[in-house]
Amino acid sequence: MIFRATALSWVVAALCFTPTAFSVTNYADDFVDPAYILDFQYQTVTAKAQQIIVQWANALNLASPWSVTSKKYLAPSGDKHDYMSWRPYYWPNCTNAGNTTVLTVDEMFKTCDYYNVDGALNPDARLINNVGDFDDLANAVLYNALAWGITRSGIYSKRVVSYLNTWFLDADTYMNPNLNYAQMAGGPTGQNGTHTGVLDLKCMAKICAGVELLRQGNAEGWNSTFDASLQGWVTQYISWITTDSIAVEEKKSTNNHGTFYFAQLASLYILANDTSNAASTAQEYFTTTFMAQINADGDQPLESARTRPYHYLAYNLAAMITVGRLGQYAGYDGWNSTSTLGGTIPAAADFAMAYPPGADTASELYPFIGAVGAIYGDSDSTLASWLNTQTNGSYISDASYLWNQPLSDSGVSANMSYITFAANPKGTGTLSVGTQPTGGTSSSGGSSSSATPRSSAVSWSTIGAMVVLAVLCHL
Ligand SMILES: *[C@@H]1O[C@H](CO)[C@@H](O)[C@H](O)[C@H]1NC(C)=O
Ligand SMILES: *[C@@H]1O[C@H](CO)[C@@H](O)[C@H](O)[C@H]1NC(C)=O
Ligand SMILES: *[C@@H]1O[C@H](CO)[C@@H](O)[C@H](O)[C@H]1NC(C)=O
Ligand SMILES: *[C@@H]1O[C@H](CO)[C@@H](O)[C@H](O)[C@H]1NC(C)=O
Ligand SMILES: *[C@@H]1O[C@H](CO)[C@@H](O)[C@H](O)[C@H]1NC(C)=O
Ligand SMILES: *[C@@H]1O[C@H](CO)[C@@H](O)[C@H](O)[C@H]1NC(C)=O
Ligand SMILES: *[C@@H]1O[C@H](CO)[C@@H](O)[C@H](O)[C@H]1NC(C)=O
Ligand SMILES: *[C@@H]1O[C@H](CO)[C@@H](O)[C@H](O)[C@H]1NC(C)=O
Repeated sequence: MIFRATALSWVVAALCFTPTAFSVTNYADDFVDPAYILDFQYQTVTAKAQQIIVQWANALNLASPWSVTSKKYLAPSGDKHDYMSWRPYYWPNCTNAGNTTVLTVDEMFKTCDYYNVDGALNPDARLINNVGDFDDLANAVLYNALAWGITRSGIYSKRVVSYLNTWFLDADTYMNPNLNYAQMAGGPTGQNGTHTGVLDLKCMAKICAGVELLRQGNAEGWNSTFDASLQGWVTQYISWITTDSIAVEEKKSTNNHGTFYFAQLASLYILANDTSNAASTAQEYFTTTFMAQINADGDQPLESARTRPYHYLAYNLAAMITVGRLGQYAGYDGWNSTSTLGGTIPAAADFAMAYPPGADTASELYPFIGAVGAIYGDSDSTLASWLNTQTNGSYISDASYLWNQPLSDSGVSANMSYITFAANPKGTGTLSVGTQPTGGTSSSGGSSSSATPRSSAVSWSTIGAMVVLAVLCHL
């Protein structure tokens, strides 16, 4: 009875949570193989991570939808469909702009001179939040798609279709497929985007993971017409990001900017159903930019030289792992790459783990230490023990613990006494312990295979009961 009560109470908690009770962690980037979710390859030790994912999906939904058209000022083009962002560390100097009257922020941005104060955020830059909105969109797509995978409830998959439609396709709210006005410096000479602005869409890998999951799973609300429209947008944007001068300049970046460029491009190719070019993109990264990024001792000198070394060491590790995961999914294995300096991804992880976080958020690194353990193995439990110590045993409640497996057999996890979204065969609405939902058969594409039900006793009506719960909770 205790187990039953526990399972029921947390499922209800997951569905009826109070949104202010916690916040969603914004990982720098990541990609999740859809087959792992579709086939329920994850174990019961991930129950808490599953719960968090459903909570995050619901929390993000409350802030939806997102669109580039939600901003107070237009890009210099005057087109509301143009994405725009201002460089965050640039400040106005209006001495030469006839500062006799009070200028609006928009007037200042066009007429005053702007200068860089590294690390000092100008709050005006956040009056235009296309960049934050894209991050929210990417997280919402990823977590709602994963929540669909966990529950197989169409509530979650239909949300994803709606978010994507608003950002990319809807006639009133779509984004033009370019970043011509991303990270503008400001002032008379700063009215065009700069190459660093390409980083603004780095979380395309999360969108790719969400789309690929719903696509491969034939999720409710996903259809080929919508898929073709999305691919149409992506194809136009690929044309921009592979040919425009500022995008090509970003590709040449030797530090995390370069890594994230490749992560974004590989994601776009997978979204466009072009796995061959996705694999080539990952290969190009691992055989060029990667080669100069890691020293033999695991230091990433281009990152540790920055003002926030711990943050940037974690950030580029995240980007490298994302390119590695996208490559692996598309058919290129870059995991064993060694840089010309003698460095490897596991060495970079070791170096970052030993680096003092200083003023940075220590937890930024955790998901990617989990990833290294899952990808390369952790036979002596070094990584698992470190995570356990750093998080006081709570890493099992991190969303990334779901897909950073197996860590289960290396000491991080405890056995759970119940299984996520347990089913009642009669579907009468009483949840019980023992099985995961089934259904959402994978299609033939990618590397996924058919979902294998773990128990014939599970029925779709149980999922229906959960949907009823969700509706009662006004999600
Ligand atoms: C602002 O511009 C004036 C005129 O060019 C210059 O003398 C002054 O040093 C600038 N101030 C800053 C903070 O850059
Ligand atoms: C405009 O002039 C006022 C008064 O000299 C000054 O305090 C203010 O900083 C100036 N604004 C900008 C953006 O330079
Ligand atoms: C912005 O870039 C376009 C295309 O390169 C160029 O024609 C235009 O003059 C630039 N505008 C400014 C204000 O620099
Ligand atoms: C496909 O999905 C889109 C987006 O939800 C919807 O507008 C359209 O009606 C759907 N088409 C079909 C044939 O179901
Ligand atoms: C991807 O391409 C393959 C091969 O052309 C095709 O069979 C499949 O339907 C495509 N999938 C999507 C989602 O467009
Ligand atoms: C690295 O290469 C070895 C030998 O080819 C292989 O057994 C191993 O699976 C590779 N590791 C990864 C993470 O791909
Ligand atoms: C770790 O967990 C224990 C037991 O719940 C608690 O007493 C302690 O304060 C926690 N420490 C930190 C650093 O959170
Ligand atoms: C988890 O369950 C397995 C199988 O019942 C058991 O062998 C193992 O000792 C358990 N681990 C923990 C940490 O309780």
